[in-house]
Amino acid sequence: MTSAQDYNPFSKETIECPYDFYAAMRNESPVMQVADGVFFVSSYDLIRQVLVDTKRFSSSNGAAFLNFQGEQGLAPPTMPPPDIANILAQGPRPRNTLLTADPPEHTRYRSLVNRSLSPRRVAKLEPAAIRVADALIDTFIDRGEVDLVEEFTQMVPLTVVAIALGVPEDQLENYKRWSMDAVKVLAGTVSHEERIESAQASVDLSNFLAQQVEQARKNPQGGLVEDLINAHMLLDEDVDGGQDSYRGLDTDEIVSVLNQLLIAGQETVNYLLSSTLLLLLQNPEHLARVEKDHGLIPAVLEEALRLESPIQSIGRFVLEDLELGGIAIPKGARLVILYGCGNRDENRFEDAATFSLNRTDARNHVGFGAGPHYCVGANLARMESRIALERLFARITNLQPTGELQQLSHQYNFIFRALNALPLRFDKKPAPDEEQEAAL
Ligand code: HEM
Repeated sequence: MTSAQDYNPFSKETIECPYDFYAAMRNESPVMQVADGVFFVSSYDLIRQVLVDTKRFSSSNGAAFLNFQGEQGLAPPTMPPPDIANILAQGPRPRNTLLTADPPEHTRYRSLVNRSLSPRRVAKLEPAAIRVADALIDTFIDRGEVDLVEEFTQMVPLTVVAIALGVPEDQLENYKRWSMDAVKVLAGTVSHEERIESAQASVDLSNFLAQQVEQARKNPQGGLVEDLINAHMLLDEDVDGGQDSYRGLDTDEIVSVLNQLLIAGQETVNYLLSSTLLLLLQNPEHLARVEKDHGLIPAVLEEALRLESPIQSIGRFVLEDLELGGIAIPKGARLVILYGCGNRDENRFEDAATFSLNRTDARNHVGFGAGPHYCVGANLARMESRIALERLFARITNLQPTGELQQLSHQYNFIFRALNALPLRFDKKPAPDEEQEAAL
């Protein structure tokens, strides 16, 4: 069997299918040094151990964002070059809020956002998600062919989150373009020109969000923005029984939270939906079961989150000299947490590489992370994805790839597991009233 040391973790081949490399790493060295001061953490138990311990493993100052440089691997986090810094300076002041903060700041922001994305609040968005999914399906259903990534899986989360934010109809096209351009940079393999475009889009998006916040302060419209405006953050708990002190969020802080929700919540759902559909096409017996019984969709989604985790890796800084998995790690080192690898750990999941709809423990995957930074959008992601698949399977059938499944490829991206395209042929199902007429 090939050893973990024989792989280049950053080559296109490994990233297209990292699973043999992952297995070798988990078996040989669950904590593996890959560069000076950079360590991969790959077993399920060690990943959880790191994620719950925010005292020794920090997310602050952008630790979570890995600076992927293609074949050259992971570069240390750097300040943007002057031309990009100049563009970014035209937007709101960046603030450390959720993904980029440690407790106690993290806890304060997090408790505010938890309420806005609770199961009850997410359930209220369900009718909008149904409308969005159906309107997208209407645009391609009569063609019998579609690239589901371009026309469906990418657009569902983008549009649902725009509705949750209260983006006005006449700004929707701008909003979509800015959001899509702003997240491109996360792939890490983009050119300098694309980074400039992405920085400009992120400034335009942030300035637009700041305007939305200012307008909502004068003319409240409900929804996520108003929640954040009305939120009061606990500053000091008065343990002697006196008054606790609170303060509201300023516009830069609200924009930072909104930006994180957009960036973390948009492409991830796209990748989950496209991977789920690919897994079903690769396993036609499961596809047939799910088409007949939509009640299986939540189990399919959990299994896709485990097997093809949309976020494959994320970073942490080490705050003190310590030992992890028997390996000495110095203060200041960076850890790369490989969620997608831990989720295939045979010590945690039986037949871990098999796509199964009968697992009782599938939800124990770390596809949404674990501990204090556990995905705050998990309820929303599950709802949007379930509705998207329910509507798709309610309206189309006989899904077939237009080419060879083996030809489908993933983005050259160390952080996300992202299918480039999913071109399919399908048959339109008769509408329920046409079905009834045919039966008469
Ligand atoms: C399938 C879709 C999604 C996946 C796989 C996913 C995955 C994750 C993971 C792994 C983390 C933990 C990061 C860490 O440990 O540092 C996380 C955090 C986060 N996610 Fe998601 N996510 C998804 C959808 C969403 C959605 C829909 C939203 C919001 C609209 C969202 C917003 C966030 C935010 C703000 C954080 C940071 C939470 C914190 O630091 O407290 N995510 N997500």
